[in-house]
Amino acid sequence: MTYESILVEQHDAVTLITINRPQALNALNSQVLAELIAAFAAFEADPSQGCAVLTGAGDKAFAAGADIKEMADKPASDFFNEDFFAGWTSHLVKSTRKPWIAAVNGFALGGGCELAMMADFIIAADTARFGQPEIKLGVAPGMGGSQRLTRAVGKAKAMDMCLTGRMMDAAEAERSGLVSRIVPLAGLIDEALKAAQTIAAMPPMAAKVNKEMVNVAFETTLDQGLLFERRAFQILTATEDKAEGMKAFVEKRPGVWQGK
Ligand code: CAA
Repeated sequence: MTYESILVEQHDAVTLITINRPQALNALNSQVLAELIAAFAAFEADPSQGCAVLTGAGDKAFAAGADIKEMADKPASDFFNEDFFAGWTSHLVKSTRKPWIAAVNGFALGGGCELAMMADFIIAADTARFGQPEIKLGVAPGMGGSQRLTRAVGKAKAMDMCLTGRMMDAAEAERSGLVSRIVPLAGLIDEALKAAQTIAAMPPMAAKVNKEMVNVAFETTLDQGLLFERRAFQILTATEDKAEGMKAFVEKRPGVWQGK
């Protein structure tokens, strides 16, 4: 498929996807969504690919939000009837079992912050700025900001961000648990690709199961989560990659994975 609003490159086992509307600070319009859905589906279906990195083109923005110009004249009935924004979570989160990382290279505002939070983790440039400024437009987060941000940073920070619309810099975002690491902007993509290569080199079933386990922690009670974890662990012990991984450890050599 050819894309107009995103760029897709393969770096060995890692798919690098770049939102490519720098003139609009990579604002997320319906074309970006449609192309991201296609790119994530292709990544998920390609057995040669083990991890993806999502970033924004240019030095200024990861994504400055949903496209305000696209939404400005849209009637409420269209937002409702299209279940506007539902596609982001269903395709990029629920249908993507392989891990992916957001490499946030500047503004991640509104839908941009929400998109970054759909990733399995966020690596931020030292110039990154996060925010949920929708209140200033007379609306509120619509792609998960009130839910994922609250789970990531707690009620106090999430309320502060949503109610004042202020931005959080990279240092505050790391302190608050929103991002896993901060790197200088110039090294961001290298660092994210390196982390993604590490993940892509892991046994693929174990990578998917580790991702599922951590995500279950947000959806369930501690007892049910611990049960899910034990059962999933026990199922992994039946895989060929478990036999190979433990044998390779004893023989002091790297494992060679079959993905089964
Ligand atoms: N939608 C559409 N266009 C956008 C945009 C957005 N979210 N953000 C920036 N742009 C466009 C600007 O309109 C401008 O285009 P023109 O040159 O054609 O005028 C271009 O990108 C550059 O932006 P600025 O001139 O504003 O750049 P700046 O450096 O002065 O300011 C900024 C940067 C503070 C990020 C500012 O652009 C801004 O506040 N953007 C909007 C942020 C926002 O409100 N995001 C939330 C959107 S709603 C949402 O996301 C809902 C949801 O929950 C999913």
